[in-house]
Amino acid sequence: MKKILIVFGTRPEAIKLCPLVNYLKADGVFQVEVCVTGQHREMLDQVLRVFNVVPDADLQVMRPNQTLAGVTGAILSAMDEYLQRNRPDMVVIQGDTTTVMATTLAAFYHHIPIAHVEAGLRTGNLYSPWPEEGNRVITSHLADLHFCPTMTSRENLLREGIAENRIFVTGNTVIDALFSTLDRMRGLHLYVDGIPDCVQPSAAGGGRRMVLITGHRRENFGEGFRNICNAIGELADKFPEVSFVYPVHLNPQVRGTVADVLSDNKNKRKNIFLIDPLTYEYFVAMMQRADVILTDSGGVQEEAPSLGKPVLVMRDTTERPEALAAGTVKLVGTDRERIVSEVSRLLTDPVYYEQMANAENPYGDGKSCQRIGEVFERYFAENR
Ligand code: UD1
Ligand code: UDP
Repeated sequence: MKKILIVFGTRPEAIKLCPLVNYLKADGVFQVEVCVTGQHREMLDQVLRVFNVVPDADLQVMRPNQTLAGVTGAILSAMDEYLQRNRPDMVVIQGDTTTVMATTLAAFYHHIPIAHVEAGLRTGNLYSPWPEEGNRVITSHLADLHFCPTMTSRENLLREGIAENRIFVTGNTVIDALFSTLDRMRGLHLYVDGIPDCVQPSAAGGGRRMVLITGHRRENFGEGFRNICNAIGELADKFPEVSFVYPVHLNPQVRGTVADVLSDNKNKRKNIFLIDPLTYEYFVAMMQRADVILTDSGGVQEEAPSLGKPVLVMRDTTERPEALAAGTVKLVGTDRERIVSEVSRLLTDPVYYEQMANAENPYGDGKSCQRIGEVFERYFAENR
């Protein structure tokens, strides 16, 4: 039996690869092994619990405030040893994090074929998002199989000279994760700690209006993040009847600024709720509950359109132009005034709101894992 090693390390990779782990295990055609790098600790473990995935190995690389070079070096050397001992027939990675790039490099050094899930995303700007755009380019040029979420990402790879017969448009596995989670959540009464009853998922429709916020991009650290937090503060003052719920990422660089601007005594507002990262099903429930989503996250840009929620993206570029074209996502950058005016417009102009709130989903039908599994079967039939 061929051995497929699936590697991930951060929250979004786990959300997008756990469905593939579970699909391939249930399918029974391959021996499936899971190695987590532990690039994230708490946020990774949250996802493993939700999808009932127990890793075979955990490299435990996370350090407080880790640097890019530090985490790259730790993963590269730990993965090198791991591959030396375990010799899988294929290594699967997903997305554009340091875990992805360093694991790709380690597998390449061992001549082990690499399959890249969510391949071909590009902004064309190496510093936006940083370092992810660089990680994508490196990974694409060392990988053997490329699973693109959309035709646009396929075209990006063709433009870079990647062989056409190695590219497969499968949809994004995040939609598999989202749909299976929505199924599991049906009928459950989820209660989110740290927010009042009128903002709970169960208060949808009847409770207060709510803006859901996430933010963590490295290129926004410093002035960008300060602007974002000041904009949230200004919006909370301008719309006292609206609740602003922000599950704050565990990166100390993010938490420091958020605490500094939004939770000191002078600025403490009754309608801003800074809470810890939510486990996936609770976050999905909050997306369903939200009126507007304000984010710089990649995954959220892909999920929210399926839920019919307008998304304002606090970045200047996106590698996900499909939802932009569909009109459910809009780029607003990190300028304080722009963020305030775009959120204000959605909260006060119902016609405009309805235009953005259509449930358009360009990212898949929930069957991406099955398509990826079928490609693996064909690949190993041809490469015995
Ligand atoms: C990483 C990825 C980014 C991805 C994001 C998803 C890189 C360079 N960055 O960014 O592409 O979009 O994850 O969230 O790969 N921390 C904890 N506990 C956790 C997670 C993080 O304490 O569960 C803290 C640690 O102090 C850690 C820091 O956050 O050092 C930064 O984590 P890191 O993975 O380096 O960067 P992210 O900003 O999370
Ligand atoms: N998410 C979550 N809990 C939260 C915030 C986000 O489970 O408190 C999920 C979200 O639904 C999406 C993923 O985490 O699937 C996005 O992760 P993140 O924003 O950390 O990374 P990115 O997608 O930007 O790489």
